[in-house]
Amino acid sequence: MRSLPSWAPRLVERWPPVTPSVDVAAVLADRLGLPAGSCVPVWSARAQARSTVHFLGTADRPGLCRWVVKQPRTNWTQDDVASPLAAAREFAGLLRLAGHFTARGGPARVPTPVALLPELEGFATAYVPGPAVSDLLHTRSVLSPAALLDGVGRAAVFLRGLHELEALPARTLDLAQEAGRVRVRLQQRLAPAGLPVPPAVARTLAAVPSRTVTTCQVWLHGDCTPANVLLPEGRTVVGIDIDLQGTGAPEEDLARFVAFTTGSVPFLVDAVLPERLRLHRPLVGRFLECYGSGVCAPVFELRLLQQLAGRWLRLRQLARLHGRPALLPLRLQTVDAQLQSLLLASARRLARATWT
Ligand SMILES: Nc1ncnc2c1ncn2[C@@H]1O[C@H](COP(=O)(O)OP(=O)(O)O)[C@@H](O)[C@H]1O
Ligand SMILES: [Mg+2]
Repeated sequence: MRSLPSWAPRLVERWPPVTPSVDVAAVLADRLGLPAGSCVPVWSARAQARSTVHFLGTADRPGLCRWVVKQPRTNWTQDDVASPLAAAREFAGLLRLAGHFTARGGPARVPTPVALLPELEGFATAYVPGPAVSDLLHTRSVLSPAALLDGVGRAAVFLRGLHELEALPARTLDLAQEAGRVRVRLQQRLAPAGLPVPPAVARTLAAVPSRTVTTCQVWLHGDCTPANVLLPEGRTVVGIDIDLQGTGAPEEDLARFVAFTTGSVPFLVDAVLPERLRLHRPLVGRFLECYGSGVCAPVFELRLLQQLAGRWLRLRQLARLHGRPALLPLRLQTVDAQLQSLLLASARRLARATWT
């Protein structure tokens, strides 16, 4: 079996290889009508938190990955996102989206659906070569961010395409009421962890004036994070891991992507934290510009504040799981500084967007 390509450390670092109890390659070969033994694993399967993924190819081209078989772990729970969908539901969504993106044209895609595999509680799609946006969040790209900004722009293009799946009736909401709800939620989430809602954020939320705004409603990706946007060579952009079970304001997906892209730190002391924070503004700018019209700025910031609070808690949890406990205080300090700064930046934009 070949070693993983250089941009695949996302799978290797945190998730161990597993030896499947069932011959997944044989099941896929049988389903595709290929001769027995012609389908082989290309890289070791990886057991991740939410799924196990298998990378398969054909025996005559042993180094070439052609298919991914995904077995979602439906009993996995996490407080900031829904549990993984059963394979049949995710596959049905994928079929719908593949038809949508083909009809629409343009660079946005989903991986070509290949087969539902009920005997594995999984499904197969075509393998998409290339890095994920999350692979571009390393120190080098913070210092030289052209590739990251390009990836973020392409992610926005993908989301725009996804959100055009079906036109749903728009909704109205009152900004002051919404801000009040967000203030309570931030407090409820952060207080048990001993974290304060930064006073300037609380003040901004309390000062949001009453105003009715209209937001579009769309089918939501549900977990549009940088790890779930793949960037093959060229202009194409491929979204994966799509929930598509709920409808809501597009700002919800947009805010989650931004929170995960800018609220991420390597769990050592982040030597480039100031540069990382400076990158937040151009990154949000590029993302929203490439998404295009129809984003309600105050609603985006309100959703972002909520996502950032979740990110703060999650990064502190992850910092604790990382080795070298002696470095934990420094790591937590870095996470706290970063997330407080992002919350304040969002609150400032919210204030500007609601008073103009
Ligand atoms: N079609 C694909 N092509 C290339 N890599 C894929 C493909 N599908 C999944 N992967 C890889 O497997 C990982 C896990 O798949 P994903 O659908 O995101 O499941 P999870 O719910 O576990 O996050 C992805 O982050 C990506 O690295
Ligand atoms: Mg994923």
